[in-house]
Formats: sequence, structure tokens, C-alpha cells
Amino acid sequence: MADTLISSFGARRSVYQLSAETDLSITRLEEIIRKALLTVPSAFNTQSTRIVVLVGDHHHKLWDIVKAAVAPFVSGDQATSTNAKIQGFRGAYATILFFEDPAPYEPLGSFKMYADKFEGWREQASGMHQFLIWSALALEGVGGNLQHYNPLIDDEVKKAWSINSNWKLLAQLVIGKPVGDAPAVKEKKPVEDRYVIHS
Ligand SMILES: Cc1cc2nc3c(=O)[nH]c(=O)nc-3n(C[C@H](O)[C@H](O)[C@H](O)COP(=O)(O)O)c2cc1C
Repeated sequence: MADTLISSFGARRSVYQLSAETDLSITRLEEIIRKALLTVPSAFNTQSTRIVVLVGDHHHKLWDIVKAAVAPFVSGDQATSTNAKIQGFRGAYATILFFEDPAPYEPLGSFKMYADKFEGWREQASGMHQFLIWSALALEGVGGNLQHYNPLIDDEVKKAWSINSNWKLLAQLVIGKPVGDAPAVKEKKPVEDRYVIHS
């Protein structure tokens, strides 16, 4: 029951060695994303999360955009290692872009006492989608790692794929076939320091 769900989530890791040769079909990928969108809750049921999936040449184009966007900020050895990292992402299968649309929150303008929470709630809703999709793909044998080149790449990304200018880019999930050994579970801090129960 609950243990099954929790151990299923436990299959997810940050996997950085990824190839494009995944068995995951576009149809299956779409199915997982659609189901996640219909499952994850959102504040006031706003359903503000927006997802754009870039596969093949679109995925390559994204990482070319990232490479160009970070270039002015790196030089020397740092440029070499950054470019190698970006090339690694580019060699994966696809990237899932997570955006948040502020529009569904507009009708909530009268809830003045919550207004300063809206942005945080959108981030939380996005995070829940990211976690579910990342974990679901892990169960399908697909590896993923989460990147944050926003806001550096936002304008170019919106231009390249005609994305609504009001949407806010929050994360990029790079996915592909895991190459080599599965990454180990990282060290966990004692849970006793991280929760308390009063009963
Ligand atoms: C909110 C959040 C932001 C993260 N940002 C990045 C990131 O920008 N780049 C990256 O390589 N990994 C990122 N990660 C991955 C974490 O470093 C990773 O999940 C954590 O070290 C635990 O390892 P695991 O994913 O293998 O369990 C992020 C994870 C979360 C939950």
C-alpha cells in the first residue's frame, strides 16, 4: 500500500549519464505526462502548471541555446567543464520544460490575504509535477536529472517554440537511457532530526 508507493518513488535518482537510445515511445511519454497533469493537486485547483516536451532536434536546439546563454559567464577550465556538461545533456533523449502560468490565479485577486503566496504555490505545484514525472519515468527505466538554466534561457526558449510570454520557466528535466551503473542512494540525514510527532 503506502510502502509500495514510497518504494516506487525511491527508484528515482539524479542520473547524469544518459543516452538518446531509450525504449520510451513518444506515446508512452505523453501518457505519463497527461496522467501526471490529471493527478497532481494545485492551490485552489488552479492547474497552473504547463509542460513543454522537446525531443530530438528540438532537444538539441534547447541545449545549443543553453550553451550560447552561459558562454558569456564562463571562461577557461570552467568553460570547458560547463560545455562538457551541456554536451552531456544534449546527448540525452529529451528535455521536459516545466512552466507556470499566472493566468489561472487572476480570478483569485480578491483573496488579498493570500496574494503574496501565489508565486510560492505555483512553485510547489510545479515541484510536485516534476517529482511525479521524474519518478514515473524512473519506473519505466528512463533516467533523468533536473536542471535550472532559467531565467538565462527564458527569452530564447519562448521565441524558439512560440511559448506564451507570461509563462514562467521553472525547471528542465533531462531524460534518457541510463548509461553505466545506477547511481547509489545518496547519504541521508537522520530522519529523527527532521520530523517530530506529538500524539
Ligand atoms: C528543487 C531541486 C532542485 C535541483 N536542482 C538541481 C540542479 O539545478 N542541477 C542538478 O544537477 N541537480 C539538481 N537537483 C538534484 C538534486 O541535487 C538531487 O535530487 C539530490 O542531490 C538527491 O539526489 P538524487 O536525485 O539522486 O536522489 C535538484 C533537486 C531538487 C529537488
